[in-house]
Amino acid sequence: MENRRIGGVHLSNIGSYEERIEDFNWDIAKDILDWKDGELLNIGAICSDRICSRGDGKKTALIWEGFGDKNARYTFDDLRVYSNGFAKFLSEQGIQPEDRVCIFMDKIPSLYFSFLGVLKLGAIAQPLFSAFGDESLEVRLASAGTRAILTTRKHVRKVRKIKDRLPELKKIIVVEGNPDRLKEGEIFFDVENSPRVEEFDVYHSTPETPSVLHYTSGTTGQPKGALHVHNSIWAQALTTSWVLDLLDDDIYWCTADPGWVTGTSYGIIGPWALGATQCVLDSGFTSSRWYKFIQDNRITVWYSAPTAIRALMKDGNELVSDFDLSSLRNLASVGEPLNAEAVIWSGEVFDGLKFHDTFWQTETGAMMITNYPGMEIRPGSMGKPFPGIKAAVLDLATHEPVDEAGKVGLIAFRPGWPSMFRQYWKQPDTYRSKFVGASENAMPDELRTNPDLWYVSGDRASIDKDGYYWFVGRDDDVINTGGHLVGPFEIESALVEHEAIAEAAAVGKPDKVNMEVVKAFVTLKPGFEPSDDLELDIMNFIRKRLSPLAMPQEIEYRDKLPKTRSGKIVRRYLRAIEWGEEVGDLSSLSDE
Ligand code: WT7
Repeated sequence: MENRRIGGVHLSNIGSYEERIEDFNWDIAKDILDWKDGELLNIGAICSDRICSRGDGKKTALIWEGFGDKNARYTFDDLRVYSNGFAKFLSEQGIQPEDRVCIFMDKIPSLYFSFLGVLKLGAIAQPLFSAFGDESLEVRLASAGTRAILTTRKHVRKVRKIKDRLPELKKIIVVEGNPDRLKEGEIFFDVENSPRVEEFDVYHSTPETPSVLHYTSGTTGQPKGALHVHNSIWAQALTTSWVLDLLDDDIYWCTADPGWVTGTSYGIIGPWALGATQCVLDSGFTSSRWYKFIQDNRITVWYSAPTAIRALMKDGNELVSDFDLSSLRNLASVGEPLNAEAVIWSGEVFDGLKFHDTFWQTETGAMMITNYPGMEIRPGSMGKPFPGIKAAVLDLATHEPVDEAGKVGLIAFRPGWPSMFRQYWKQPDTYRSKFVGASENAMPDELRTNPDLWYVSGDRASIDKDGYYWFVGRDDDVINTGGHLVGPFEIESALVEHEAIAEAAAVGKPDKVNMEVVKAFVTLKPGFEPSDDLELDIMNFIRKRLSPLAMPQEIEYRDKLPKTRSGKIVRRYLRAIEWGEEVGDLSSLSDE
């Protein structure tokens, strides 16, 4: 990518937002990547081989730091060779195109190599957050019919617990550590200590070849697998260029874990498609560690999340001045509402740089509504639709686009952008239910290409008179804790597996830093009494089975839970109490 700096001043990649909308065409992304029709469209190859063949093999692709003083650097040539290594190894293990390969590890370098390797093979990468406990893991592997899992010593014990219940899981591969410590049936593969694989015949994916399967939570039922395809790269690369504004000499840091979509779309695909240098910090959060990471690596572009920003804010302005953060030039945020205070604060402490809020979802694969470099930021607003994205807010009752400024409705998008999810894994009805105006038996391919439908995001917002979008809240019961969605149903199902619990409801309660945390309401089985010990035991039970995110921060014991006359627990009611909101119409509740 050509750097456009005039007299030291960089004109942003997007230039004029209005002009970009005027002459928008997704093929602009192909021009930016200098990609011609007929060339190989494989995300794994575009992010590594292609950068090498344009002459940047020696450029640093990954600057990695772990706990303590562990660190490493890799070039694009390393990325190419090590992803080849994974692709070759997996193919020798019998993994076929479209097989699901789960990547279950901390943010170690092999996560990044294997992700690209799986894609080079034409298989489907299924990254899962390494903090997931065995039950969260099992549900997602069972749903996807996963064939192979790549993991580490630390996390393999969770796989051992569940493998007997997963007949389709044929290969358990441990990518680091000591091969002698493995159990029978487990395979060891350390790519950095294996022979270099210079050549690999990359799978000839088409635009519609599946690429990544990310699980995301809904209100009802277990998490759903949002399936993406190789064509997504155009939206990911173009938004990376125009919103994150990456240039050739930028040092970029996306703080998200690739177990979630931000960590793959903007922590792997978008930036490496452009040949940018990325930083990864695989150690827990402390404000000083983060600032030091920016300082030491001279990070220029930083994509993070409101929870982290609020945690930094809490640690005060003085700490910021202990570090030299003058390298920073563009900041962006995603995952939850970015409150106006956080935007204003960042402008104060980072030398005028304000976080640019971006709104999107696992399902959208790339940014949809965002603030752009050069545009006036209205603190608290998510910004405006990305050029090429046709967005609206639909009336809550009629589902017609709202044209009145400030009126709240459902955020919706016209289908057809490149990174749109192609299906919920094996759940065509649930996929269909996300589209307003869909005919009863419409197939996924018809839905995603029909420009007369609306894809409904499940969030509420209003649009002001100048076209800025303002987030209001979710339209469902999904809990957003620190930018991570957790499904109440998944938590409730796990809660009722605890020996003491008869019934359970999980809702989000307000939290200063995480926006929401999980709160559980439970009724106990006969013979069990409420106590602090029991509360702790239940919390740990959920933390181990599901994850620290899903763990209730508070458990309230009740004699009974509010239910409809047909016996369905009404979370809405419990949630409203937590938020001090109007409880609404209770006429449908049972008096029992
Ligand atoms: C949900 C999607 C896509 C990146 C990570 C999350 C909420 C996301 C914002 C924002 C307010 C936001 C929405 C959305 N969300 N960005 N800028 N302002 N809310 O992906 O796990 O699929 O979550 O996160 O509720 O639907 P996800």
